[in-house]
Amino acid sequence: MSLIIYNAALLDAEGQLSNQDIVVENGIIQKIVPAGTLEVEASGTTENTVIDAKGMLVSPGFIDMHVHLREPGFEHKETIETGARSAAKGGFTTIACMPNTNPITDSPEVVELVKTKAKEADLVHVLPYAAITKGEKGEELTDFAALKQAGAIGFTDDGVGIQKAQMMKDAMALAKSLDMPVIAHCEDDSLVVGAPVNEGTFAKKHGLKGIPNESEAIHVGRDILLSEATGAHYHVCHVSTEQSVRLIRQAKSIGIRVTTEICPHHLLLSEEDIPGLDTNWKMNPPLRSKRDVEACIEALEDGTIDMIVTDHAPHSSEEKAKGMLKAPFGIVGLETAFPLLYTKFVKTGRWSLSFLISRMTSDPAKVFGLKAGRLEIGAPADITIVDLNKTKAVNPDEFATKGRNTPFGGWELTGWPVTTIVSGKIVWSE
Ligand code: DOR
Ligand code: ZN
Ligand code: ZN
Repeated sequence: MSLIIYNAALLDAEGQLSNQDIVVENGIIQKIVPAGTLEVEASGTTENTVIDAKGMLVSPGFIDMHVHLREPGFEHKETIETGARSAAKGGFTTIACMPNTNPITDSPEVVELVKTKAKEADLVHVLPYAAITKGEKGEELTDFAALKQAGAIGFTDDGVGIQKAQMMKDAMALAKSLDMPVIAHCEDDSLVVGAPVNEGTFAKKHGLKGIPNESEAIHVGRDILLSEATGAHYHVCHVSTEQSVRLIRQAKSIGIRVTTEICPHHLLLSEEDIPGLDTNWKMNPPLRSKRDVEACIEALEDGTIDMIVTDHAPHSSEEKAKGMLKAPFGIVGLETAFPLLYTKFVKTGRWSLSFLISRMTSDPAKVFGLKAGRLEIGAPADITIVDLNKTKAVNPDEFATKGRNTPFGGWELTGWPVTTIVSGKIVWSE
């Protein structure tokens, strides 16, 4: 079985586009040659799938290291299959899923279940994270060695912060001994009591309690010191504040092993944009001030922030209808991430196309040691084809995810993925 992509617009190392033909065999990229120079050997046995990509960007498949797939336990919000299909539709070929399911992914059995379901779905690569603490209760460490053995790629209690410093220190020491990363949702609960939005202009206007920047940054600062003490690779989830990026920048400058990620919504929206008491704008961390947004954009640009992730967090419409105080935090993100960022940062001239692509492909691959994120001979054929001229409005009713919870409904965006290829197989096509 082979696949040939003709006339692919490929980004080279200098960020220039050139026209190439790509030959894939048995899921591996075998040849990349200037368009028009391919000599196809006549073969009676091989069956070729052929794609003419004329006028299309051909990118390494996107990688999202922070996704909620909800299975087991919350299949009404999403299943591994619907989440993987949503990823494929959004151009993602590898996703890493969070353990805040029911049961929590805190045992080898649940890791195995996630892997089995992902294999059955047979769409994109699904990499499971396991919990740091049993039940994500912050009281007792899970069996890291057994979870690693079962296939977990890192440890996180995403959804909640680890409240006790000693617990985090023990987790990092153990993770370090196994050469595994610790991924942290940073939130000090004592600073956040019953607050649905950022502590700032929107909260004030609507008489709501606010989530202060320090609730995130205090954990970031604490954990940087624990990473320094233990030598563990510490990865900060969905960074959102000026203070957090300041701490991470300084830690990186002195060689502490800290990495981080940011979501499209924290790059594009501030609390000032929230139209009213609409729970499609409620997520954790919340939309911050304009000043935080600009500090985060600059931090992504200077490499303080390593990668873009979506924190895809589907919820049912019934749950999201409970009002600003009671509705769960979270928005979906897989199917809008690339067009949002391409339209708002590349088309406007602030970023180069290659900058955006690297923050969504080779950069996360490098941080997490994945054999993915590059189109080169010998690499797995995980490929996303994008129509950079296609413009359409975001229509949540057309999403492959079960979630409809997005603040971006109706946004006119350009640059839509049209074909997604995983291990040489087309898993989604328009
Ligand atoms: O908005 C969020 N949703 N933030 C989190 O930390 C958890 C996530 C979820 O699981 O819904
Ligand atoms: Zn989180
Ligand atoms: Zn999350």
